Amino acid sequence: MKILIVGGGGREHAVAWSVSRSPKVTKIYCAPGNAGIGEYAECVNIGAMEFEKLADFAQEQAIDLTIIGMDDPLAGGIVDVFEKRGLKVFGPRKNAAIIEGSKAFSKDLMKKYNIPTAAYENFDDPAKAIAYLEHAKFPIVLKADGLALGKGVLICQNMEEARDGVRTIMEDKKFGSAGNTMVIEEFMTGREVSVLAFVDGKTVKTMTSAQDHKRAKDGDQGLNTGGMGTFSPSPFYTPEIDDFCQKEIFQPTVDAMAEEGRPFIGILFFGLMLTQDGPKVLEYNARFGDPEAQVVLPRMKNDIIEVVEACLEGRLADIDLEFEDNAAVCVVLASDGYPLAYEKGIPIYGFEKFKDQDGYYCFHAGTKLDGDTVVTNGGRVLGITAKGNDLKEARKNAYEAVKWIDFSNKYMRNDIGKAIDEA
Ligand code: AMP
Ligand code: GLY
Repeated sequence: MKILIVGGGGREHAVAWSVSRSPKVTKIYCAPGNAGIGEYAECVNIGAMEFEKLADFAQEQAIDLTIIGMDDPLAGGIVDVFEKRGLKVFGPRKNAAIIEGSKAFSKDLMKKYNIPTAAYENFDDPAKAIAYLEHAKFPIVLKADGLALGKGVLICQNMEEARDGVRTIMEDKKFGSAGNTMVIEEFMTGREVSVLAFVDGKTVKTMTSAQDHKRAKDGDQGLNTGGMGTFSPSPFYTPEIDDFCQKEIFQPTVDAMAEEGRPFIGILFFGLMLTQDGPKVLEYNARFGDPEAQVVLPRMKNDIIEVVEACLEGRLADIDLEFEDNAAVCVVLASDGYPLAYEKGIPIYGFEKFKDQDGYYCFHAGTKLDGDTVVTNGGRVLGITAKGNDLKEARKNAYEAVKWIDFSNKYMRNDIGKAIDEA
């Protein structure tokens, strides 16, 4: 089979690696890809939002299956464009990707179908939002409705911060049209868990759990980022919690989407908070997590292509998803300064140590080739994943492996997986 992967970050590198292991696959293309993905795939210089060009390419190259890694093309309807042209594609259609693309939609869905989540109200008028906030309990959470690179969530401690937040999201439009509508949500506390699942429109099969670290600095300080590291599985996600989530959250969400005439086919990502009142949904994503994919896929035993084909043919119920009985930790190596300003184009050294090292992976996020040299090309540069027999060993291995890589403005968190010690 010839496969096209759309995207060019660490998540797509992990997907490309997983796809490359399938005996069914003869050739992989990735658009636009990056320097690391280039090891298994031919990178194609077409942007992820150039739907017609991507579909032309898939047609010309007789691609058997296209896998969409990123949220923006999914929310923009890339799957509908491919399907209209008779091309096989994995990901939710536009009318289902809205579960990630509009937080107001997803909150209303959860309310209608009694899926546990934080109490909330949606607003499209800043004056009404302010009036509501005057009587609200703090801290409180403001969320831009649309996609905002994971940055459209503001936690406000008092009325002054809330006024600033409403201005930022709805008036100054810091997140663009994503802020035309805003969700105001009850602040929850607890541990966060990411659960990713394959969905075929009716059946949902969850993968092993993971936890992300969203803040830039140690001790969960600093600005929100796309994710600075992950570990899998989460020791806090017990079988009892899983049982509750399967019955009250996962299957009800998939059923709700089908009931609404928006059957979800693709990867559904449940961002959960384990509160004192039980697990609640923080957010849904319509694709693999980044950097969750970098710790979940290396532990998956199944042939990813077989599972994807089962989703597309509505026979996911026949598949047993299997994961290794071990653990993985991913530490993101970023450019110093991320998520604000940072330098690019800096040479990276040390990749050779990852060759022939079982259980160690160097997933590229923001890299490119400058002649023969791999240079930095983004805020998040690499995701270094290591496996171990348990989480502690995996963490030790990951922090050993980050030393193999060198670039002059290398930055990382030193406490990825620290929560493991409290388990
Ligand atoms: P989201 O993009 O909705 O996952 O939000 C980003 C991050 O903001 C989450 O991972 C949480 O850490 C935090 N967050 C979002 N919603 C809430 C909430 N209702 N209560 C507390 N923290 C939240
Ligand atoms: N790691 C969170 C996300 O992919 O949105």
